[in-house]
Parts: sequence; C-alpha cells; structure tokens
Amino acid sequence: MRLQLLSDLHLETESYDPEPAPGAELLVLAGDIDARWDALARFRDWSQPVIFVAGNHEYDGRDIDDATAALRDRCASLGITMLERESIVVADGEGARIRIVATTRWSDFDLFGAVARAKAMRAGSYFMDLMQATRGGRPFDVAAMRAEALACRAWLEAELKRPRDGWDRTVVVTHFAPSVKSADPRYGARSGTASFCNADDDLLPFADTWLHGHLHCVQDYAVARAGGPTRVVCNSRGHERRGETEAHRPRLVIDV
Ligand SMILES: [Fe+2]
Ligand SMILES: [Fe+2]
Repeated sequence: MRLQLLSDLHLETESYDPEPAPGAELLVLAGDIDARWDALARFRDWSQPVIFVAGNHEYDGRDIDDATAALRDRCASLGITMLERESIVVADGEGARIRIVATTRWSDFDLFGAVARAKAMRAGSYFMDLMQATRGGRPFDVAAMRAEALACRAWLEAELKRPRDGWDRTVVVTHFAPSVKSADPRYGARSGTASFCNADDDLLPFADTWLHGHLHCVQDYAVARAGGPTRVVCNSRGHERRGETEAHRPRLVIDV
C-alpha cells in the first residue's frame, strides 16, 4: 500500500496548502495539524481515505478526555478516521491487508531510563506549562502525561504482540517518536529529548513500518530485525520562521 504521510503542519500559524500525492492510496496525518482544529476541514474532500492521529497541540488549552471525544466527532463529521489506541486493517489495490496500529503515545520520560526520569520530567515541564491542558479539572502536567503515555504504551505493546489475525503487514502510527534515533539533530540526546522520543525500540521489530511526527525534522531510517528491517519515517513540516520546513516532502509516498 502506498501511504502519504503528513504531520506537524501547524496550520494554526503556518500557511500551507496540503495536496494529495500522486499514486497515494491513503493519507496518514500524524498529529499537530491544527491546534484550533479548523484546518482539518481541508481534508474533508480528500481524494483518498484519511487517517488522523492527534498530536499534543490538538490538546492545547483543553481537557484531554473531553477533547478526545470532541476531536473524534469533528473528524467523523469530515469523513476522517481518527484512531487512538485502535487498530484497523485496510486492503490495498493488490489485495494486501495492512494493519494500522495507532496512538498519540505521549511521552513517559523514560527515554534515558528510570534514573534519568526526574530530570527528563523537569525539562518536560516547560512544554506542559505552555500547553495549558487539563484532565478532570487538574493540570495535565508531566505526571499526568506520563500516566497517559504508559497507558498508550501498554495498549501498543499488547496490540503489537497479538498473534497475526487477518493482516499481512503492520504499520504503526504515533505522534511521539519510538526511538532516540529520531532525535532532532539540532538538540541531540539531551533531557528535553525525552519529551519527544520514547524508548520503544523493543517494539520496533513488531512493525514493518513506523510513522511518527512531533520532531520538527524529517527522519527516514531502517532498524534491523529478522525478516527485513523496520522502516521509521517522520515527514513533519514544522515552522517556516525557524527554517524547519525545507526538508519536508509534501508529496512523499511510503510503500508499506
Ligand atoms: Fe509539532
Ligand atoms: Fe507535537
């Protein structure tokens, strides 16, 4: 199956007109499309089916649980399939069955192990203060994000370890990255990077392809495993004023 991948368009501030990539059979939106949700309407009459996984910015200033339900409704009204801790199987033009396994994933701050967690959470507080999100009337802070991230991780691990049942290949879609290998080279492996990447390297072999966003740099690398490597791809766009948009490939199509 040929997938178009877009993420981190940040249409709440960026001006950018997404276009269908020639030959794509499905569009995957891997989060941070529009913090205000308005621009999701641009995908209403997309020429291919659209799958959406929320980014952290879709939750800016909102209650996490209320927003998940409302965002799901908003996507459904636009004909977009939002996935959160859900998997679906879709068939491509050649009859191959692709399982898409999706969750925002958030950050559990364990990228550098439990000993470095406290430092990673202190670094992450900066982003959570900016986010101004809540859960049940309390701030959605680093501890709340870690709890949500661990719930996502538990679901993801169980789903990926489920015996093959009606699919030929597996594509994981997360907003947060699965490995420090996805770290933004501008910042490298510092404490703040644990707010962007998780140590899900142990899960990579269960996926044929892993698509993510959140890092405002593009990534496309292979991780060795028995039976052929796992390909990890990020095609985020980011912010033009920070020079992040140049490497973004608007018409990137990934064969999965
Ligand atoms: Fe982003
Ligand atoms: Fe993000």
